[in-house]
Amino acid sequence: MTYNTTSTYISDGLINQGTFSKIIYVKDKSNIRYASKNVTHCEYNIHIKLHHKNIVKIIDSYTTPENICIILKLCKTDLLEFILLEKNHSIILLKDYMKQILEGIQYLHCNNIVHRDIKPENILISMNGNIKLADFGLSSYFQNNNTLISGRKGTSYYAAPEIINKDVYYPTPIDIWSCGVTFYVLIFKQFPFDIHKLNSNIDNKHFRIIFQNNNIDILLKNLFIKMFEIPQNKRITLPEIILHEYFM
Ligand SMILES: Nc1ncnc2c1ncn2[C@@H]1O[C@H](COP(=O)(O)OP(=O)(O)OP(=O)(O)O)[C@@H](O)[C@H]1O
Ligand SMILES: [Mg+2]
Repeated sequence: MTYNTTSTYISDGLINQGTFSKIIYVKDKSNIRYASKNVTHCEYNIHIKLHHKNIVKIIDSYTTPENICIILKLCKTDLLEFILLEKNHSIILLKDYMKQILEGIQYLHCNNIVHRDIKPENILISMNGNIKLADFGLSSYFQNNNTLISGRKGTSYYAAPEIINKDVYYPTPIDIWSCGVTFYVLIFKQFPFDIHKLNSNIDNKHFRIIFQNNNIDILLKNLFIKMFEIPQNKRITLPEIILHEYFM
């Protein structure tokens, strides 16, 4: 990490206003554009160690008086924008995106990191059309998958029931749940549960999956049922998803 190299990058407009920080376009001296984001030490320390084809790359970083600024490889769009485009994307493309998301999450879990905020806004599509996981602001290290972790409590349409209702939970199943909601939204452009009933103390019966489309691929339906198992120890694991017949 370098110090005070702000002059290396010139601000070039707003990309997106995230909940915690602004993401802006910056240009370097050769006029190459990147994305710039102010992050905490915690987010920086996790993201800087990640090197994988499905994780957005940190090109450079420098400290500011308040926090750390990371310069990221510029992506074309995020998965939410892609979904909202209203185009009928081919299932082959969607399946390929799903596989790449799984590979990114598998890399994180193999490195004892749980993302904890998997959702379409935090999944980018690179200029070459590849999936890049982003936003490690809520990520955390875990010792092993049999040790409970805490923190990040709160409601979200993508959050697993245990993160909404419990103070402690096992790490990797929470990413599987959010990944399931993301896949469902990617395919059906709507949420899998009755979102109006989401509040901080939610009954398990509200997580009944909505399958409106009778033509749904039976293998995909089976995969969703397994990704949305409420008991964490019953939920499908990542290696099992990758080997699931839907992806064969
Ligand atoms: N490298 C990038 N290239 C292009 N766009 C990006 C890049 N990084 C982030 N963005 C855009 O900025 C948005 C917010 O980025 P990010 O999720 O990292 O910030 P955040 O403040 O943590 O957001 P939030 O807290 O709302 O999830 C993304 O949803 C995406 O649209
Ligand atoms: Mg985000």
